[in-house]
Amino acid sequence: MPASPRELDAPAAASARAGANFALIKYWGKRDVALNLPDVGSISLTLEALHTETTVRFDPTLAADELVLDGEPAPERAPRISTFLDVVRERAGVRAFARVETANNFPTAAGLASSASGFAALTVAAAAALEQDWDERTLSELARIGSGSAARSIFGGFVEMKRGRYRTGSDSVAKPIADARHWPLQVAVAITTRAEKAVGSTEGMQRTAETSPFYRAWVENQENDLAEARDAIANKDFEHLAEVSEGSALAMHGLAMSARPGLLYFNATTMECLHRIRALRADGVPVFFTVDAGPQVKAICESVALPTVRDALRDVDGVLDVVESGLGPGAALYAP
Ligand code: DP6
Repeated sequence: MPASPRELDAPAAASARAGANFALIKYWGKRDVALNLPDVGSISLTLEALHTETTVRFDPTLAADELVLDGEPAPERAPRISTFLDVVRERAGVRAFARVETANNFPTAAGLASSASGFAALTVAAAAALEQDWDERTLSELARIGSGSAARSIFGGFVEMKRGRYRTGSDSVAKPIADARHWPLQVAVAITTRAEKAVGSTEGMQRTAETSPFYRAWVENQENDLAEARDAIANKDFEHLAEVSEGSALAMHGLAMSARPGLLYFNATTMECLHRIRALRADGVPVFFTVDAGPQVKAICESVALPTVRDALRDVDGVLDVVESGLGPGAALYAP
């Protein structure tokens, strides 16, 4: 790293797109808050149809970082972006503020993992704008500093995030475990509200780690779930993946409910969807659910089952929309 940061002579810009991801084996809890190091590993799917597109422009004439989200200035969210860009600037040895324009093609912050695709796209765009030739592992490490789940959206298909052991976090990175063609599962997301969630995941998991009497048990069990999910994915064993993934989602929510004050991310429609999905599976339809820190329900199914699953979720009272997606690629640059 240069002793003093280099000034840019002219603006430097790049654009990147990253798919949302959601975890089958959940990340909930940090071993280091400042560096954003997870206390548990996780396994996720990167989606094709839900994505974030981000353009970053480092400009020596700017007096501060600026953020435009879905076409509107978003100064209230700019500090988190600035803190992250400070890390990128320090690593790149560059001094210049940036204008970040980012757009999601799905509701922001309603439990569809916008921070994951957002920070993954921003990491890849910022690295390219500053002409940094960082490998994917380094991009994943940087994205993790922005948001833990973002480390996973650097990669496509089935992805595992490592808890890591080092205090620096250099081994708390994601890696791909199978690409989308290995097992082209489909996802139907039932949108049960368009409102923002009450307690974000960063705050929710911190409260859980500090107050839940069951937190240590959750951390200790995680390696078993990760090993089972890895096996089920390698063997394309749907029943097994369904069991361990639903178990992890329900354990995460049970744990969150056991925080003080308890965190309630489900609404009544969420619960109806879970029952509907369980009933479908009991009837032989290959589908299972997961839910993140919000009330939307993600139904994961074999492709043959997608029409049945979509129709069943649309039929649930309170479901506003059902968004479908296959598994997608990792974060990449694009020409806007
Ligand atoms: C419930 O990655 O949003 O979606 O690291 O604080 O930014 P920070 O948290 P974040 O948490 C995601 C939590 C989850 C489960 C998961 O994606 O694994």
